[in-house]
Amino acid sequence: MKRTYLVAGNWKMNGSRVANAALVQGIRAGAGACKDVELLVCPPAVYLESAAQLVAGSGIGLGAQTLCEQEKAGAFTGEVHGAMLKEVGCRYAIVGHSERRALYGESDALVARKFRTAQACGLVPILCVGETLQQREANETERVLQRQLDAVVDLCGIAAFGDAVIAYEPVWAIGTGRTATPQQAQEAHAFLRAQLAKRDGRIAASLRLLYGGSVKADNARTLFEGPDVDGGLIGGASLKADEFLAIAAAAQAQSI
Ligand code: 13P
Repeated sequence: MKRTYLVAGNWKMNGSRVANAALVQGIRAGAGACKDVELLVCPPAVYLESAAQLVAGSGIGLGAQTLCEQEKAGAFTGEVHGAMLKEVGCRYAIVGHSERRALYGESDALVARKFRTAQACGLVPILCVGETLQQREANETERVLQRQLDAVVDLCGIAAFGDAVIAYEPVWAIGTGRTATPQQAQEAHAFLRAQLAKRDGRIAASLRLLYGGSVKADNARTLFEGPDVDGGLIGGASLKADEFLAIAAAAQAQSI
């Protein structure tokens, strides 16, 4: 089965009104060359509403970098409810990014709740999973991926993955310039898909699995060649329109 590639830019805590406008304008200008690829930008929450206007009519989607796990709005100072993200134009929400897990103490259980809340609010969750270098070197990669995945499957059920995306982001490859080899990425993706397939083959086959971690214009093509790699979650390289478009073009080349 052919899955539509998704190339998503996670801007992390970067940007400004002026910079965002120039970046989106640059991406819009080249997006027509990647017509078979779904493009997504994930700016900081404060810019989501203005970014929605910038991408309007372009086919470029909008995603949040995180959301509050609470299903009901209320006294949760500083948090952003999924319904608010939906209201300002988000289609997706990233949950469980390794920076959220490591720097803000998000547990597997909390990530699972965020996944569930995202869907309850009409957002498609992009669930990030990935091992640290220490875990990889201790041969624990599969165990960690399984644990992170199971937490969500146990809470939300396998059917929830019918409308979700998973991003495999090895922590050691994020922002380090040290990319997973295409083989390492494909192996992890195949493992994740196989785990889901044990529960529901159809959902596993149609689910999109993105790779994230130092994806650049010059390594995207070989990474995207993996049969279980359906696009990328791009950090640093998504802040430059040309670089992001070149990554999207690598996905487009696999799509035809
Ligand atoms: P880099 O592409 O900067 O390594 O970041 C990857 C990432 O964390 C995307 O969510």
